[in-house]
Amino acid sequence: MPKTTSPAPDLALLARAAKSAAAKAYAPYSEFRVGAAIWTDRGLFTGANVENASYGLSNCAERTAIFAAVAAGARKLECVVVYTPTPGPTAPCGACRQVIFEFGPEARVVSCCAGKARIDTRIDALLPGAFGPADLG
Ligand code: THU
Repeated sequence: MPKTTSPAPDLALLARAAKSAAAKAYAPYSEFRVGAAIWTDRGLFTGANVENASYGLSNCAERTAIFAAVAAGARKLECVVVYTPTPGPTAPCGACRQVIFEFGPEARVVSCCAGKARIDTRIDALLPGAFGPADLG
């Protein structure tokens, strides 16, 4: 895997990877199985939502993927693709937006779903005026 730079992400591949990742979700409480595929300076990582009997400790698919990537040495996030098993696409939750911003303040964020529609946007549109690393001085 490349250490610093990566080729442009293949959106179709990321969308397939996000959908496959949803099959690994641990979601016995919501039964809402979500997958994410991200493109970073260390290449492709995937994640699924991981719930907990103490519901508030549940982790979204997007953050699972980002934390796995960062733990593997990635520091730059170029693109996040999330798959939800819904007729229409859904955007990442507020917590995930903040975590996406930390590593990819200009990241592309694509939401895909069981239907054909997609949301294709950027984190600065989803989280305008974000608080980030630069604000700590
Ligand atoms: N969830 C995600 O993993 N990502 C999203 O973008 C939306 C919500 C998860 C959290 C929880 O496990 C379940 O979906 C229901 O909210």
